[in-house]
Amino acid sequence: MSKKRVGILTGGGDCPGLNAVIRGVTKSAINQYEMEVVGFHDGFAGLIDGRFTILNYEMASGILTQGGTILGTSNKANPFEHIKTVSGKTEKTDVSDGCMELYNDLALEALICVGGDGTMTIAGKLAEKGANVVGVPKTIDKDLMETDITFGFDSARFIATEAIDRLHTTAQSHHRVMLVEVMGRNAGWLALESGIAGGGDVILIPEIPYDINEVISFVRKRTRFGKRFSIVVVSEGAKPIGGDQVYQKIVKDSPDPVRLGGISHVIANQIEQETDTECRVTIIGHLQRGGTPTPFDRLLATQFAVKAMELVAKKHFNQVVAYKGGEMVPVALEKVAGKQRLVPKNSPFIQVAKAVGTNLGVA
Ligand code: F6P
Repeated sequence: MSKKRVGILTGGGDCPGLNAVIRGVTKSAINQYEMEVVGFHDGFAGLIDGRFTILNYEMASGILTQGGTILGTSNKANPFEHIKTVSGKTEKTDVSDGCMELYNDLALEALICVGGDGTMTIAGKLAEKGANVVGVPKTIDKDLMETDITFGFDSARFIATEAIDRLHTTAQSHHRVMLVEVMGRNAGWLALESGIAGGGDVILIPEIPYDINEVISFVRKRTRFGKRFSIVVVSEGAKPIGGDQVYQKIVKDSPDPVRLGGISHVIANQIEQETDTECRVTIIGHLQRGGTPTPFDRLLATQFAVKAMELVAKKHFNQVVAYKGGEMVPVALEKVAGKQRLVPKNSPFIQVAKAVGTNLGVA
């Protein structure tokens, strides 16, 4: 009798821990359930174009510590809005029937979709068409609903914190204001947590629009009290009260076309003009998504993977594996798809930041 098969794809932006999930799913499928694993290349693009590989034990070995994804990923591929250029014109077509055909031809028990909000939204639509889907939550932004944390976040937080630590020395030596711009899209988790961990003097997040005069008077106050430098941690999605976010670029063929970035230059100019203190900006960008996952993310990714396979084996489909209160639990896909988890106003991290005297850009 032929072995049962499970599919896996990694969608959206890459991050540390994706390979740990691929390894965990493949090894658990082979060891625990004697199943075969079909890995689709470049996220949903592989499902659309029929590009896949049977993942064997050797392929899943030695990748635990590797960043990125051996399967490749795409944050543009969407079977429901597949972009094609016909006679120089760009058209969006629904090719999801073709994806379902391939899914059925391969006789997949289920498709494990590893990704963020965009991936979960597409997974939910495939589930409506009859696919058995299990989601694994990935993003450095930590903005997925229903899970306390996503893998990739801890690694990104580590990198951002290290950047803040390193910038402290130049800030102190040159008596400068150093601004560090951190990723996170519309969620401030990464800036807030790395900012607290790195001892940022000011932390600006999208959920709390800032008053530039507050930031400037805080920097001045620090100077008056003998601190001739400041570290300002800025989330890429931060915006002034009544103002807008700053876009770095618009990626037209992406389902989520806005790429944020550059707000810290605006803030730096304003501080420099009003305080006579030199400012420097560091946008750490994709460094936050690169390199080896932290031990925490390796553990989390492996737990997510093993739980995902358990759900497949138990035929508990159309669920996302979530980490809640220290436990791996299934959550209905529709509770996660299309939603964003932002920093709540009453977040304990906000209280802690305020308690240690961090300025959050408002009085
Ligand atoms: O969602 C992850 C993320 O890294 C965001 O923090 C960031 O805004 C975005 O992706 C960058 O996307 P890209 O890799 O397409 O530039």
